[in-house]
Amino acid sequence: MSSETGKRPYGTGDASFQAAGGYDGIKLLVDDFYRAMDELPQAAPIRAMYPDDLTEAADKLTRFLCGWLGGPKLFSEKYGPIAIPAFHRQFPIDAARRDAWLDCMRAAAEKQPFAEDFRQYLLAQLYVPAERSRNLP
Ligand code: HEM
Repeated sequence: MSSETGKRPYGTGDASFQAAGGYDGIKLLVDDFYRAMDELPQAAPIRAMYPDDLTEAADKLTRFLCGWLGGPKLFSEKYGPIAIPAFHRQFPIDAARRDAWLDCMRAAAEKQPFAEDFRQYLLAQLYVPAERSRNLP
């Protein structure tokens, strides 16, 4: 899958980070993600696992996604190393909760000015760590 002609394909170098609009674009995505988590009925069970104040959760997810998309490693710079599946073992995550998390990401991604192929690439890629974070059948 490629971004635009002459540009590097998503997943190489920082092509995905750039396609997402860099730190600022990812911050907007994450803010809309948590807004969707407050609004989507199917997300209520996962919203309940987060603290009331999502400020730090938003900072953490924004920084994590910057590095995960090939940009600067802003999460580990501030918070240290993280392994996503191991971290999430403290939360009960079944397929419905995994899908609710991804639904919030889909709703958020639809609000961003992303290239359509990047939107699809991003959601397909996010399935991988989401499924690896599932710890219940
Ligand atoms: C599969 C469904 C998922 C659920 C239900 C879920 C839920 C949660 C919850 C409840 C927290 C703790 C928030 C807090 O106490 O502040 C958290 C933290 C976090 N999640 Fe997830 N998550 C999911 C998937 C993912 C995925 C796919 C990623 C990465 C692509 C991710 C990245 C993070 C990060 C970076 C943190 C912050 C870790 C920290 O506090 O050090 N999560 N998640």
